Amino acid sequence: MAEKPQILAELEQEQVNALAGLSMVQEEEALQVWKREYLGKSSKVMLAFSSIGQQPKEIRPLVGQVANQVKQALEAAMDACAVTVHEAALAHKLASEKLDITLPGRRPVSGGLHVQTSVLRRIYDIFAEMGFQVYRSCDVESDEYNFELLNIPAHHPARDMWDTFHVASPGMVLRTHTSPGQIRAMRQYCPEPIRVILPGMCYRYEQISARSEIQFHQVEVLAVGKNITFSDMKGTLNGFVRRLFNADVRTRLRPSYFPFTEPSAEMDVECFVCGGKGCPVCKGSGWLEIMGCGMVHPTVLLNGGYDPEIYSGFAAGMGPERISMLLHKIEDIRYFWGNDVRFLEQF
Ligand code: PHE
Repeated sequence: MAEKPQILAELEQEQVNALAGLSMVQEEEALQVWKREYLGKSSKVMLAFSSIGQQPKEIRPLVGQVANQVKQALEAAMDACAVTVHEAALAHKLASEKLDITLPGRRPVSGGLHVQTSVLRRIYDIFAEMGFQVYRSCDVESDEYNFELLNIPAHHPARDMWDTFHVASPGMVLRTHTSPGQIRAMRQYCPEPIRVILPGMCYRYEQISARSEIQFHQVEVLAVGKNITFSDMKGTLNGFVRRLFNADVRTRLRPSYFPFTEPSAEMDVECFVCGGKGCPVCKGSGWLEIMGCGMVHPTVLLNGGYDPEIYSGFAAGMGPERISMLLHKIEDIRYFWGNDVRFLEQF
């Protein structure tokens, strides 16, 4: 028997190699590589087809036949493999997307309001009920507004009450209190009656300690109109304090001094920690100081554009950080702007 032509032997060997190679294929990508190698344009099988013309005449039909068989066998094996690879990929995807609906849920982390934002909103609400609007004034003020127009001329000893941050432009300061907003509100509304509160951050160049910070809020209260009296002030402030603390808290006014009010006073509330008996929070006195107040000084009314012969008014200024410290028994003012979440999360 004549020896088997070499091309036929090669085709048979190619089939064996290709099937062996296919048995290693596990992924789509590898299958494509395999297909290019064994069934692509320059694969042995495809080249065998194009070589038929160069083969001896007598074996041409046989070469064509064998090449066809090998090609069909490889295609069939490839199709079978494609199905397996696809199923494996699907199973893998399903497994990776498995969802255990019996697992307990994870609580989403939600933010909250800063304790001062809440206290300020309570203050706004209470004054809103009494007909006071919020008036926003600027943090960077001129010396004129922060001091002069409030009856505190340069070299006036009362300037010692406010240690001031001066900014780069001459004559400009970070406001040391919200009182300069009184002048701005009066100049804007004159000669209309005014009922506003002026909340905002104030700045003082002070040694930071448990009791004093270089930045803190104040809420200023201002009412200007005809026939406004000291007892209107007392009634308004009492109304506010009772809504903020509780309905039967007692208050008292002590004479005090501010250059921009005359007469001036400070309002104390009965210590709600000890009920007035005396404790460390009120330092044994039974009273807690919560704001400065007084009748708007005639000079200040004049500076705001109101004739003090016709108009009168009252003003008050309170520190909401101090109010929070009393309400929540916070012992160190530095916690407010320290941004420690362990502190902030408690409110
Ligand atoms: N501005 C004063 C302060 O900073 C508080 C105050 C405001 C007092 C209004 C009287 C009237 O201490």
